[in-house]
Amino acid sequence: MQEAIVAEGLVKTFGSVRALDGVDVSVPTGTVLGLLGPNGAGKTTCVRVLTTLLKPDSGRAVVAGHDVLKNPNEVRRSIGLSGQFAAVDEYLTGRENLRMVGELYQLSGRDAKRRADELLAQFDLADAGDRPAKTYSGGMRRRLDLAAALVVSPPVMFMDEPTTGLDPRNRMALWRVIEELVSDGTTLLLTTQYLEEADHLAHDIAVVDHGKVIARGTADELKAKVGGERVEVVVHDQERLTEATEMLAGFGKGELGVVKLQRRITVPVIGGAKLLAEVIRELDARGIEIDDIGLRRPTLDDVFITLTGHAAETEDGNAGGEGDDEEQSEAAPQRGRGKAVKH
Ligand SMILES: Nc1ncnc2c1ncn2[C@@H]1O[C@H](COP(=O)(O)OP(=O)(O)O)[C@@H](O)[C@H]1O
Ligand SMILES: [Mg+2]
Repeated sequence: MQEAIVAEGLVKTFGSVRALDGVDVSVPTGTVLGLLGPNGAGKTTCVRVLTTLLKPDSGRAVVAGHDVLKNPNEVRRSIGLSGQFAAVDEYLTGRENLRMVGELYQLSGRDAKRRADELLAQFDLADAGDRPAKTYSGGMRRRLDLAAALVVSPPVMFMDEPTTGLDPRNRMALWRVIEELVSDGTTLLLTTQYLEEADHLAHDIAVVDHGKVIARGTADELKAKVGGERVEVVVHDQERLTEATEMLAGFGKGELGVVKLQRRITVPVIGGAKLLAEVIRELDARGIEIDDIGLRRPTLDDVFITLTGHAAETEDGNAGGEGDDEEQSEAAPQRGRGKAVKH
């Protein structure tokens, strides 16, 4: 089987919201697809359709060789899911939770126990293994949830924002676990709001916004979309933003990105340091005051700005920022895109 996951033209509406607006996805067996997008982009809806938890209004999807509408049970037997709809039992201990999942998948009592021990150790939960899950911190729950999804090794895994809200240390630990899983041949579809996470883990990235895939490619291909170097300017005075944008367009070699609220203009350039000096002179001549200016290598964040005109908003409002306090982030609302800056 070449493609472990194929979806064509998925549409899902909730009232007037088109959560999925014609999504095509394909994931070759043994590879990782990163579904990258801001809060409310449609990532979870896509995962729920592909894992048979939700029926699409139209479109088709085949996962691990089975049609999600015609053969949902076969799909369910071939996949693992972890994410925002965690099935951790609060009153059981971490160890009991994992053993229960193992027995659910018909491992023998002994194998279920051994697998639980392995996973507790792998996810740094050995010490907490005999405490009820309800005493766990947000990060510990997240790890238990992931561990539960890995009790049996399904050929196709879905992870919905596995590291959102985790602190950097826990995020790195999870990245290592995920890398190990993938090196064993698992196909993975992972959703994330973190650009550097998709860059780090995914072979291929699909950028999602408003229920549509707006770009697809490797991290390098996406970076190439914004050209090589860019000049980034933060204008001091909101009123001079338009003038500065028009001026910078004259120096640019591609589409400009403007984040109004941050008064930030990004423009792909050729010519590097020499050009930067010219830009500074020109801004100075016009009396446009700046808070920051620099020559930057492209990041995936820039790709997002170029593609959508706004930064990729994370739950806590930082574009691609590091995780905050775990509990707080996990209590943050998952829905709506009130913070997105549109132009
Ligand atoms: N069960 C639901 N009922 C109503 N609206 C929903 C439901 N699930 C998702 N939505 C809406 O669909 C859009 C996409 O949501 P979602 O797939 O959760 O995005 P993401 O996971 O990328 O944050 C959002 O506007 C969200 O409010
Ligand atoms: Mg989601």
